[in-house]
Amino acid sequence: MVVRIAHWGTMAIETPHDLFEHHLQEAYYVENELVDNLAVMADEVTEEQLFEDFQEHEEETQQHVQRLETVFESIGREPTMSESAALDGLVEEKNELSTEIRDDELRNVALVGAGIKTERMEISMYEGMIQLADEMDVDDDVTDALEANLSDEKDALQKLKSRAEGSKLKQVLADLTG
Ligand SMILES: [Fe+2]
Repeated sequence: MVVRIAHWGTMAIETPHDLFEHHLQEAYYVENELVDNLAVMADEVTEEQLFEDFQEHEEETQQHVQRLETVFESIGREPTMSESAALDGLVEEKNELSTEIRDDELRNVALVGAGIKTERMEISMYEGMIQLADEMDVDDDVTDALEANLSDEKDALQKLKSRAEGSKLKQVLADLTG
């Protein structure tokens, strides 16, 4: 179970350390939000394989939250969230599509696409944080935790991309476009 932390970040960003902490707070918001959103997406898809993919990534995302909590601990800070407009935009866009699309299989295609966009955003997020961490004097376990999350996101991206290229979705697109 994910514990919602009441702290919200309102810090001045003046040093690379501040910037790292800000990104960490954003990542903490993103991963917490995605635990909920991946559960919603698992319910929205109508194909068993996609349901399992989203559910599996939801479980991984709970681990991502926990790994970020170890990073906060390593840098001597309380886990704190800072809202990510990028994630909010992706979720809003996904919700709009999901509501507007009437055809179940076309909605599946849109949801895989939304998942791919989200994974790419998370990959950029972690790559940026790891780059900053490398330039700072942080414990190895900070970098290890971020690398572990990045690796899961890359695997999730590959899996979703393979679903997007899978024969069933290809057939759906072929049927819809004639
Ligand atoms: Fe994640």
